[in-house]
Order: sequence, then C-alpha cells, then structure tokens
Amino acid sequence: MRQHVNPLSKNFNEIERIPSLIEMYGNPDLNLHLDIGCAAGEFLFNLASVNTSWNYLGIEIREKLVKTAKLKAREKEIKNLYFVFGNAHNILNDVQGKIIIQNVKSISFNFPDPWFKKRHYKRRVIQPEFIKILSNSLPKGSLIFIKTDVKDLFDYMNSTILSNFNFKTINNQYFNYSESFNPNKFRTNREKYVCVNQLDIFERIYIKAD
Ligand SMILES: C[S@@+](CC[C@H](N)C(=O)[O-])C[C@H]1O[C@@H](n2cnc3c(N)ncnc32)[C@H](O)[C@@H]1O
Repeated sequence: MRQHVNPLSKNFNEIERIPSLIEMYGNPDLNLHLDIGCAAGEFLFNLASVNTSWNYLGIEIREKLVKTAKLKAREKEIKNLYFVFGNAHNILNDVQGKIIIQNVKSISFNFPDPWFKKRHYKRRVIQPEFIKILSNSLPKGSLIFIKTDVKDLFDYMNSTILSNFNFKTINNQYFNYSESFNPNKFRTNREKYVCVNQLDIFERIYIKAD
C-alpha cells in the first residue's frame, strides 16, 4: 500500500461529491465531526460505535482505504459514520462540501503527512487557502483540533491557522473533552505508535470566533 500520495496530482481534480446529511446518516440532526486524513478509519469506527449522539465523516486521499472503510461501515450497518475519497481541499471547496462545512461542530487533523522538504510544503493538507474555505463556512463556535509528532509541521499548521483572524487558540489544559467528539480520548493509529515510542505530541485546539 502506498503511504504517501501527492494531493496536487491531477488525479484528484475530479472529486467525489459529499452526499447530503440525510443520505449519509440515520439521524442527520446529530452533531457532526469531520476527520481529515482518516486513513483506514479505525479511529472513526471506534468513535462512532461508542458516541451514538455524534455523526462522523472521514475524508481520505487513498482510495483503497476508503473503499474498504465504506464496505465495513455498510456491512456493520453503522448509521453515524461515512467516508469520502479524495483531496480534502477539493472536496470541501465544492458547493456540497461548503454546505456540509456549515453543519460541522468540529474538525480534526490527526498526524497529517509532514512533507519534510521545503519544496513539498505545498502538499501539506493545511494551507492558507484551505483554512480560508473552512473559515468562510464553519459556524461560529466550531472547533479545529490539530495533532502531530513533528514540531516543524506543528509550527507551520499553527501559524497558518492563526494567520486567519477568525480562529483563536483554546487552552487545551482546561478543555472539557467529555462534550467533544472524542469524550473517551481514543487514540489514532499514528498516535498509538507515537505513544509506544515515547515521541512528543504537539497539539492545539482552535475556535472559530467570528
Ligand atoms: C500520517 S497519516 C495519519 C492517519 C491518521 N489520521 C492517524 O492519525 O493515524 C495521514 C493521512 O492523511 C491522508 N492525506 C494526506 N493528504 C490528504 C488530503 N489532502 N486529503 C485527504 N487525505 C489526505 C494520507 O493519505 C494519510 O492516510
């Protein structure tokens, strides 16, 4: 399985349009959490099975992983979980993507691909234009969670998000996770690896203030 996919490849210009909430979920009125770069979706399967008062949407650019995850969700008849394949930027810049963002309570970017070389920074998922798309459509009070084990990537994501004046940092020390999309503090696959290997985790939460 290829680990790194170039999101700027023209293969991803055509997008899978996100269905409407009613097409994706058993109850379209539940709080909606969006996980960007969800890989095989194991984290979301854990969340969806326990937190039945939330709907979860995963976007992932590796098609095979999304096909398998979709099949698994259908076989298990999970009604609060859906996966979409493609470059998150293109999917959420679409008309239907923007409608979905208007209904989102929170978004997570867990351990995004770091793209270490400077000439590859433009492949990183968090980009100023992408944050602008989110900022234009996210409701006031919605949250963005970022997590990574790469300090340079953390600094880059943090400054990119904060350069958009609509987002403010929340002090995560006092954050009440019990009311969030992840009250049980489940860990993603990468996070489990990082914890086992005792690597640092850099994380921050932002709120859409205006
Ligand atoms: C390092 S993995 C982390 C996976 C998972 N979030 C975790 O914490 O275990 C990053 C994931 O983001 C996906 N990805 C990278 N760029 C993306 C993009 N522009 N849109 C959607 N997914 C993307 C990759 O294919 C990969 O599965």
